[in-house]
Amino acid sequence: APRVGLIGWRGMVGSVLMQRMAEEGDFARIEPVFFSTSNAGGPAPRFAGMDGAADTLGDAYDLDALAALPIILSCQGGDYTRTVYPRLRAHGWRGLWIDAASTLRGEDSSVIVLDPVNREAIDAGLASGVTELVGGNCTVSLMLMGLGGLFRSGLVEWGTAMTYQAASGGGAAHMRELLAGFGALHGAVADQLQDPASAILEIDRRVLQTQRGDGEAPALPTEQFGAPLAGSLIPWIDADLGDGTSREELKGDRETNKILGLTGEDRIPLESLCVRVGALRSHSQALTLKLRRAVPLDEVEQMIAEANEWVRLVPNTKEESMRRLTPVAATGTLEVPVGRLRTLEMGPEYLTAFTVGDQLLWGAAEPVRRALMIATG
Ligand code: HSE
Repeated sequence: APRVGLIGWRGMVGSVLMQRMAEEGDFARIEPVFFSTSNAGGPAPRFAGMDGAADTLGDAYDLDALAALPIILSCQGGDYTRTVYPRLRAHGWRGLWIDAASTLRGEDSSVIVLDPVNREAIDAGLASGVTELVGGNCTVSLMLMGLGGLFRSGLVEWGTAMTYQAASGGGAAHMRELLAGFGALHGAVADQLQDPASAILEIDRRVLQTQRGDGEAPALPTEQFGAPLAGSLIPWIDADLGDGTSREELKGDRETNKILGLTGEDRIPLESLCVRVGALRSHSQALTLKLRRAVPLDEVEQMIAEANEWVRLVPNTKEESMRRLTPVAATGTLEVPVGRLRTLEMGPEYLTAFTVGDQLLWGAAEPVRRALMIATG
């Protein structure tokens, strides 16, 4: 079995990856070599299905140790990749680097992996000596898992995605901050909530004071998000590019087209407006798509539903949407529900859709896990 260096296996994305690898029996197909950026020499983890593996953690900054491996998979994050990856190449390493971070996604030398959508590109890349396989942005991967059938049909002329992104996209500390915020809001008004006769406007005033940090009650924590999120939203994700867009919004267009292998005239312009909401780990998005020609809705539905085994078409009714098309319904599953599909008043070529998916599964760990399995045959 090929030896695979695993870095960042203890973080949030890494933990989900380890769990999925154990569930799928992947550890029997590779020989894992665990590294740490902070605890080299400490005990290596044991996951279900592992037989041979080193007992101690390697040093994730030891270039000789890394360079001895044919494959390295990192969930350690962009800073680590930026620091270590170029040094490892300069050190003469020629192996395969698989990464969940965004650092190398834009490079011509990399393939963004989402095999249910672009398996051919991954196979062709590996056959031609590509040595960087990178997981896509979570919002993009989830959109293409849901609507890839339509995007791949060549029917989409342009699209917009209005996103509702969960706290986990920021990281584990962000999830904690959101929950602490909900707790602070509840704490500020718990007594009044007990009393059915209490005035709702007084409750509302105290909640707002807590959110704004100008009341008697302690303010919401905002260190991670930089603004109160519980009971509110933040209409900006990732860096300000200075031209009115965020980096997250730019990724939407760039990565979608890269995954679909579209360049020049064939590119599908995809505009986004990315918003952080108080969901925990499933991203949602509402799309408007302009098709090149009018297509009956049942044909569109068929293209979407038949694209892969994880997409779930949800009938456009109140009952089904509330039951199946929410972050709560999607979280912890590999299913990607797509619903609210209908033709718009603007014309028969205009469609709307809503899709949700677990940001840590298909949004992060699963494409990278599957890339490792594809690469190791
Ligand atoms: N940038 C995404 C988010 C995370 O903050 O939701 C994963 O690509």
